[in-house]
Order: sequence, then C-alpha cells, then structure tokens
Amino acid sequence: MEKIQNWDIKELAEKFGTPLYVYSKQKIVDNYYRLHKAFEQHFSKFQIHFSVKSNSNIHILRIFRDLGCGADCSSPFELLLALEAGIKEEKIVYTGNYESSEDFELLSKYNVKINFDDITSYSRFCQFKQPKFVSFRVNPGIGKGGFEGITTGGADAKFGVPYELIYQAYSKAKSNGANEFGVHIMTGSNILEPIYFAEVTEKLFRIVGRVFNELEIKPNYVDIGGGFGIPYTDDERDLDVENTAKLISEIYYEFCQKYDLGNPELKIEPGRYLIANAGYLISKITGIKNGYKKFVGIDAGMNSLLRPSLYGAVHRIKVYGKNDNTHLVQICGQICENSDILAKNVPFPKVQEGDLCIILDVGAYGFSMASNYNGRPLPAEVLVDDASARLIRKRQNFEDFVRSMKFL
Ligand SMILES: Cc1ncc(COP(=O)(O)O)c(C=O)c1O
Repeated sequence: MEKIQNWDIKELAEKFGTPLYVYSKQKIVDNYYRLHKAFEQHFSKFQIHFSVKSNSNIHILRIFRDLGCGADCSSPFELLLALEAGIKEEKIVYTGNYESSEDFELLSKYNVKINFDDITSYSRFCQFKQPKFVSFRVNPGIGKGGFEGITTGGADAKFGVPYELIYQAYSKAKSNGANEFGVHIMTGSNILEPIYFAEVTEKLFRIVGRVFNELEIKPNYVDIGGGFGIPYTDDERDLDVENTAKLISEIYYEFCQKYDLGNPELKIEPGRYLIANAGYLISKITGIKNGYKKFVGIDAGMNSLLRPSLYGAVHRIKVYGKNDNTHLVQICGQICENSDILAKNVPFPKVQEGDLCIILDVGAYGFSMASNYNGRPLPAEVLVDDASARLIRKRQNFEDFVRSMKFL
C-alpha cells in the first residue's frame, strides 16, 4: 500500500512523523452520501447524526456539519465540541448514561434532544429543568454486537430503560407536563446484516407502539442509533445499506400505521460506518525480535489504537512497498502490557526496522480511544483531500503532557 487518496504515505510519514492518523475526506463524504441516499428515498423525514464518540476531531465534525449531518453526543464535552464545530443545537441529540447532576446542569442550558437512559436519569435532569420534550432509550432485553463490549442491549447491557418500564417512563414524563416525545434504541455495534436493523426496529415498535397509543403520544422521532458495520477483514462483505433502509422502512410504515403514530422522523446515529474506513494509522517498525515467536514492534500500540487489546478486534496491517506475506508474525506496540499486541500470527512480508506499517479502518474508535499510557504522547492527525494534506491535531509534546498537572 503506497497512497492515501493521492498522497504518498512515506512522504506523509516524513513530513508529519509517526504514529500518524490520516483521514481521507473523500471517503468520509462518499460514506455519508451512500448512507443518506439509501435512507432518503424511503423516509420523508430523516436525519443522520454523526456519533461524535467515534471520532471527535473538530475538523472532522466540520466536514459533517457542511454535509448537513447532525451530531450524536454522549458527554458534556462532546456536546460543547459539536457546538464549537458549528453544528446547530437542533441538529444535536444526546444519548449518554449515568450522568451526574453536574452533567445534567450543563445539558439543561442547551436546547438539544436528550434520549434519557433511565427514569432516574430523567428525574435527575428535572432538578434543573422540566423538559417539554422527552425521549427514552429502550433496552428491549436483547442485543447483538461484534464483541461483548459493543453489545449494548440485553440483560447484561448497562444501557436503556428495561422495556417493562417504558409505560411508566413516558406516563411520568407526560404527567410532568412533557408534550413532545421521541424514542431511542441501540442494541449493538458493527452489525453487517440488514435484517438485524429491521428486527430491532420491529422490536422497538412492538414495545412502544401500544404504550404511545394508550398515552396518546405521536412521537416526533424514532431514533434507531448506530451500529452500521464495516468489513474489517477480507472475508467480510460491506453492509448493504440500500437493503437495510428498505427493510427498516417496511417495518416503520407498517407499525406507524398500526399504532397510529403519524409520520415521525427517522434518526440514525452512525459512527463507524461514516468514518472507520476513512482512517489509517501510519506507524514505523521500531524493533524486530526473534523470541519464542517473531515479534514486529511498531511505534503504535494500545495507547494509540485500543480496539485490539480491548475487544480482540482485528485490523488489517499493510507494509509500505511490500506485500509478499510469507512470514507469520506478532505485531506489537511499545506498552508494558502483554495485551499490547495489535495482530497475532498474521502473515507479513520480510520487514526491517524503519519500514512503515499502515493499519486500516481506524477512523472510528481509533484516536478517540487513545491515551497517554506509559507516558506515550498522543499521535498527530492529518486530513487529506486531493488538494491538501492538513495537520488537524498536532502531536502531543512533553509540555502538552504535563500542562494539566502544572497548576500548583
Ligand atoms: C447511543 C449510541 N449511538 C451511536 C453509537 C455509534 O455506534 P456505531 O459507531 O456502531 O455506529 C453508539 C456507539 O456506541 C452509541 O452508544
């Protein structure tokens, strides 16, 4: 692999250093339009909210703002960042969990739509403001995800109002004076089967349909969250978003009619689908060890890309200018943890110190999960389009690292 858009990877590494996150603007734009087109043909009222947790670089958020995309935020800082990026309050949804009173005090100052994770969350928010608009995240009792860590529905998931309590939740909001409503569900991430999204939507309607009907609620929106997957390996196929949108719409219209729910807006909150394949992590080989196994050490690790250590996630790793994958290696970072292994027993070319590795599909949950563990600096980020390769986050230096500790 030699280029990202029309930029030579070696030149990017020489100019900006490694480890380096690089994002292709073209891929982000293509992903957005593909997804938007698939849904807009079925839904007259439809909004995409980019999930800020997947990539919270303000320059990336501005690309989405310019595309007409909204934001899905999950913490006060994410909300402030989305606003700072110029995304309007009315295009922001907030879906968090276990917020403190301080969090809610800040949120209450903004006119964003909150999908409350629990009745107790809603009550905590009410200390500051009685919202006229109320939406709850439903836990339907089932879930599915690429890994247990990204399964966000079901009995073991910490998210959402158990579906048995949904009537209680909305009737409480209504008796407190709320007169506009939404509903949210998200049960898993990185799903590649279209039918799954239709099943979740159906499950949601079966839970809230009768409740809304009895409480005479016509929701402003139905938000089915994110979870739209991407292939991380050569064996997986792209999610068929056309079919996904079609299957969701069939359920949607059937149940809106059945329960007389009107024509609520459909919202989705994708992160991974919009940005994962647009991100590359360029890293340099810093050491090669013929130990009990062959270890290729690189200057990126669990500090810069946590997913492999956190969930056992798989990312393809290429070498600049080499592709004769004849050796089985372990690719590891520089962190003092044995879980700091980015790939195990993978076929790899014959490499030497100084060679460049390119880790694919890291645009989502890559930099946003990076840390300073072991005192390693956060990487730099670069955004490329055909005309420019622009630094959008400078590499952290020692002064940046100690700044928030030097206040005494
Ligand atoms: C509430 C909510 N919305 C959206 C997302 C984005 O998910 P994905 O990146 O799988 O689309 C998440 C991810 O955890 C989430 O928790």
